[in-house]
Amino acid sequence: SIELILLLCTSYLLGSISFAVAFSKLGKLPDPRSFGSGNPGASNMLRMGSRSLALATLLGDLGKGALAIWLASLWNMGPAALGWMGLAAVCGHILPVFHRLQGGKGVATAAGVLLMLSWPAALIAAALWLGVFAWRRIASLASLAACVGLLPWLAWQQPELLLPCGLMVALIMLRHRVNIGRLLDGSENHFKR
Ligand code: G3P
Repeated sequence: SIELILLLCTSYLLGSISFAVAFSKLGKLPDPRSFGSGNPGASNMLRMGSRSLALATLLGDLGKGALAIWLASLWNMGPAALGWMGLAAVCGHILPVFHRLQGGKGVATAAGVLLMLSWPAALIAAALWLGVFAWRRIASLASLAACVGLLPWLAWQQPELLLPCGLMVALIMLRHRVNIGRLLDGSENHFKR
């Protein structure tokens, strides 16, 4: 229906807002797209040395994902349809219309989506992220572990979310291919303890 298409577009547009780009300008920091990993996301904001702006970026990117789902939920959609809205928001973050399709990796946006779709799934993903990060101090490894660990749980508890969330995970992993290369050759960036 036309409503569904409009909501998908709204989710995509919300996802396209880059809080890393906005907050780095606000804080007079370098552009995250030409610093560190080159990724406009919370991890790279932290790499620039601003904990508060990294946190603001995380909350902004989480918030836009959550907002997209909340908005769509006003139309009484089922969980699978909401999952597709989430995928649209993650696509917006990864390929933002406002930034010549040069976006981020989608982790925080997907986390915000997940929080609204299924808080237990979000809890599992957050625990995996934090656990792996505390262990190895590598953001990309933590993100990949959270993504992969989430899928068996969804398959078991919420199979109706498996397709849209599985595609989200696939997109996120694809966006981490350079990180995966660095993880494999041992050159991935570690955060200091
Ligand atoms: O959220 C993205 C994270 O998984 C990796 O970011 O900047 O280390 O490539 P980065």
